[in-house]
This record gives sequence, structure tokens and C-alpha cells, in this order.
Amino acid sequence: QSDEAWREVDAYFADTLVPEDRALREARESGGLTTMPQAEVAPNQGKLLAMLCRIAGAARVLEFGTLAGYSTVWLARAVGDGGHVTSLELEERNAGIARENLRRAGVADRVDVIVGPAADSARRLIEEGGEPYDFVFIDADKPGNPAYLAASLELTQPGSVIVIDNVVRNGAVTDPASPDERVQGVRRVLADIAHDARLEATALQTVGSKGWDGFVVIRRSR
Ligand code: DHB
Ligand code: MG
Repeated sequence: QSDEAWREVDAYFADTLVPEDRALREARESGGLTTMPQAEVAPNQGKLLAMLCRIAGAARVLEFGTLAGYSTVWLARAVGDGGHVTSLELEERNAGIARENLRRAGVADRVDVIVGPAADSARRLIEEGGEPYDFVFIDADKPGNPAYLAASLELTQPGSVIVIDNVVRNGAVTDPASPDERVQGVRRVLADIAHDARLEATALQTVGSKGWDGFVVIRRSR
């Protein structure tokens, strides 16, 4: 099968099941203005994140990697009026775009976008000792994945759900000798998950408007 066919099926599913209002559409399209155009999740994946949040009954969400805030809008709407999203973003430029998208989506009051290296921001959240997060979406720089999972385990509780994006690396994820630090970041975090008795997890490959990719879903059991 071809990229073209995958794209058509994704478009059909999105048109049929994943209506976007203007704020979501503009947030997705403004991804092109960020430092990483094309990296935002597909509409059907954004909605999956929102549905996982609702299924988990999540009120507090932590996101590593905001970019234009497209997934952030999905997550913020999923947690509802009384919920809260904290989203960590390296680049001030991207955070500015995201804050505008969150305002247009009507959820600015329930989202904090924190600018800086996500590991530093997460460290501060741990030190602050706030309420645990119910749902975490890890979608920032891939070499940072192991550190982001470790931080997430200090910021969540039994029952929390963690999703890690972009784990296929065009198939290179299976190569233990890959010189690509992003591949190694994915492989290390998968090994960390496998060795942690608190975590149950699976990973899925996806094809569609984002080409060949995939994600990990983790449930923290204790
Ligand atoms: C990459 C990162 C992403 O978060 C994404 O959605 C797509 C690609 C990357 O680092 O290549
Ligand atoms: Mg991603």
C-alpha cells in the first residue's frame, strides 16, 4: 500500500468521525509556523488522546512538547471545565503560537504552557509537589524520552496513563546499533518500561496522514 492510500483513509476517517471546529483547524494549520512543521499529531490521534483522557477520567494532564498546542487543545477540552493541563515547551516562539491557539479554543484558563527544557520544568514540578497527574503525553525531543518517563513516574499515581509518541523512527527502532540518538531514546525508554514492574504497556504502529509511525500506551498499576 502507498502513502497516498493511507492519507486518503485517514482523511475519510477524520471527515467522518473527527470534526474539527475552527480553533482546532487553525491550531493544526499553525503547526507550520513552529520550529517543527508537520510534527503535530493527526486529527484522529488527537481525538484518541482526548478519548483516552476521558476513559481514564483524567482531570490533570501533563504534556511534554507543546509545539503549536494542537494536541494540547484536544487534551484541554477532554479534561473539561474543572480540569487542568500543564504543557512543557522548549521554544518561546512555539509557546506563543500555542497560547494564541489555546485562547482561540476557549481553554487558555485551564492550560499552563511552561517554557524551557522539559527536564528542568519537570524537575521544578516535582519539587513543587503538586497534585499527581492522571494522564501524560510524552511528545518532545526523542533523546529525552527516558528522562521524561522517569519524571512522569514522580508526577503520576497508580491508574495514571502515559502515552509516548513517535516510537517507530521509520522502522529504525529495531536496530540496536542505530547511531540516531532519537532511535536510542525510544529504545531506552521501551527498555525502562519493560523493566518497571509498576507499568503495563503496549505499542502500536500507525500509517496515515503522518506516514509510518506509532505510539506506546502505558498504564501505571502501582
Ligand atoms: C518527530 C517528532 C514528533 O513529535 C513528531 O510528531 C514527528 C516527528 C521527530 O522528532 O522526528
Ligand atoms: Mg509527536
